[in-house]
Amino acid sequence: MNQLEKIRQNVIECTKCDLCKTRTNSVPGKGNFQSDVIFVGEAPGRNEDKNGEPFVGTAGKKLSAALEEAGVSREKVYITNVVKCRPPNNRVPNTKERDTCREYLKKEIFIIKPKIICILGNTAFNSILGGSEITKFRGKLVRKDNQLYFLTIHPAATIYNQELISTLKNDIARLFDLIRELKNNKEIPVDIEYTS
Ligand code: URA
Ligand code: SF4
Repeated sequence: MNQLEKIRQNVIECTKCDLCKTRTNSVPGKGNFQSDVIFVGEAPGRNEDKNGEPFVGTAGKKLSAALEEAGVSREKVYITNVVKCRPPNNRVPNTKERDTCREYLKKEIFIIKPKIICILGNTAFNSILGGSEITKFRGKLVRKDNQLYFLTIHPAATIYNQELISTLKNDIARLFDLIRELKNNKEIPVDIEYTS
């Protein structure tokens, strides 16, 4: 069994926090383990809980559309969440749940070693970088501990706000421009340098 498959199995069987009591299925990350980018959302919603796969509902369609517009198919990237089980009524996962689930995300990142981690929305921004106000910081490239992060809005935010669709699409397009530049060994300017 490869390392990612092992994490997947551990997530499927995990009972480390109370979200295991209310979930239908855990939702491990999914996609290409050689991806240059990992997308990180908040937590599974109803459809994800039903199917055991990340971003398969309405928000997922928005994410897929933005990827497609950037000329990238979903299978080429790796998609996951901060928390792998659905919180009841889609409430925001609490600190304890995020901290308990963190080891899985850490391992996914360690194994895949993405060039950039794309943070989708405030919960991921807060959980991973301690940030807030994603709308203020979206579109920016962050470096912390030698890892690059790209910040954008949560795809679900575009569902009831048409204007945000182009925001998401433009951000995702910039993300893949940055990845191309990195692959060509270009120096890319970092917008925010975090010190830990
Ligand atoms: N929203 C998320 O944050 N993650 C999903 O997997 C689906 C919706
Ligand atoms: Fe385990 Fe994470 Fe699910 Fe909690 S949310 S039960 S820590 S996989």
